[in-house]
Amino acid sequence: MSTDEWDALTDDPMPLLSAWLPGNDDAARPLMTLATLDENGAPDARSVLLSEWDADGFYWHTDARSRKIAQVTAAPAVALCIPLLGVPHADAKHQLVVQGVAEPAPQAEQDRAYAARPPYLQQLAWQNTPEFAALPQRERITAWAEFAAAHADGFTAPDAWTGCLVRPHRLTFWFGSEHTASRRVEYTRGEDSTAGTIGWKRQILAG
Ligand SMILES: Cc1cc2nc3c(=O)[nH]c(=O)nc-3n(C[C@H](O)[C@H](O)[C@H](O)COP(=O)(O)O)c2cc1C
Repeated sequence: MSTDEWDALTDDPMPLLSAWLPGNDDAARPLMTLATLDENGAPDARSVLLSEWDADGFYWHTDARSRKIAQVTAAPAVALCIPLLGVPHADAKHQLVVQGVAEPAPQAEQDRAYAARPPYLQQLAWQNTPEFAALPQRERITAWAEFAAAHADGFTAPDAWTGCLVRPHRLTFWFGSEHTASRRVEYTRGEDSTAGTIGWKRQILAG
């Protein structure tokens, strides 16, 4: 980011999100770490794809029977860590860290995200079960090919397909630089008591 662009930063994080994250039509989806709390309050984490994002937040998709869904249903506070190592028109590495609250994604969004997944991932949503995982690998390969052949016209989403929206209340943009120290721009959502609205506050932090 140039000096002028730093000076132009506003209290709205959307321009930075738009500059850093690929559009939802881009087939290459960023990988992120989704951190949750388990039933004992211990941290848990795994990689998921960022399926979509918009002004409401960040969407990811999974199996409704998965551990992560049980965890966010019981304790919806989550964090996302998105390393962005090849941002277009940027000379440096970036990272976006999100703190927020997970909720079920709207059905229309879940349908759209399934339709946008490549065929391999659409099929995975059907065959990603404990029973299939327990089969010998040779059987798994055969059954996978048979399932693909039986659905050559395409897949519809299984009942277990689900998705979450993470509504952010903190966004931390980390800017790497080869020429000087890294630093962060952090946006925190809070109430503006004078205007009676919810807005973003921005501060600059050391890297
Ligand atoms: C590159 C990569 C991408 C992944 N994307 C997803 C994803 O989008 N959704 C998902 O449920 N699991 C995804 N996984 C698998 C998860 O990391 C995890 O192993 C699985 O979802 C089970 O997590 P849980 O037991 O915490 O629910 C991905 C794994 C890797 C390595």
